Amino acid sequence: MIASKKIALGILVSGSGTNLQAIIDAASREKINAEVKIVISDVLEAKALERARKHNTPAIVIERKSFESKKAFEQEIADTLKKHGVELVCLAGFMRIIGRTILDAFPNQIINIHPALLPSFPGLDAQKQAFDYGVKVSGATVHFVDEKTDHGPIICQVAVDVHEDDTVETLKARILKQEHRIYPEAIQLIAEGRVSINGRTVHISDQLPVISKSTTGY
Ligand code: GRF
Repeated sequence: MIASKKIALGILVSGSGTNLQAIIDAASREKINAEVKIVISDVLEAKALERARKHNTPAIVIERKSFESKKAFEQEIADTLKKHGVELVCLAGFMRIIGRTILDAFPNQIINIHPALLPSFPGLDAQKQAFDYGVKVSGATVHFVDEKTDHGPIICQVAVDVHEDDTVETLKARILKQEHRIYPEAIQLIAEGRVSINGRTVHISDQLPVISKSTTGY
């Protein structure tokens, strides 16, 4: 399917890594024009590391406690990403706030996925926040990362209905399924060079069917 040069990805993780898996799968099936060059976890036991290694993708642990300052910790992450030629950094369940050192090393080159329709329910336990609030529709958002948590310009979103018999867990699972679809799609849009940022607004040029337009009904 895909001809041109692949975009080099660096994925930051802390946990189970199902989004990492979705990206690895999409890349290896050539559904996206991307290659995962390095996976970095700040948690030694993260299952995401196993997933990467199983796929022969370089995966390393960089723990915050090994460094005296956040700056030094982030410098090590940035240097590692650069060493592997990373062009786009994807946060996939990375449980730390990205600071200036990484942001400056990768301007407008860091994206994140959040399990809610931002700007609603940023921060931790977004699905539970939405569920407890009683929303009828929640979803997921892929966005550029800036200095504030879950705040940067939005690349794409998908809406997910809340069902009458949902629990937080069932809602979470339904949202996660959509995350696995839209995160690779967002990466592909960037790989194709179709994404530009104007203030808070992300423009997608020449919309092809690859973009997720889906709204409710999952
Ligand atoms: C996902 O719900 C993602 O939206 C959020 O953290 C979770 C990570 O899950 N940022 P996984 O590690 O990809 O399974």
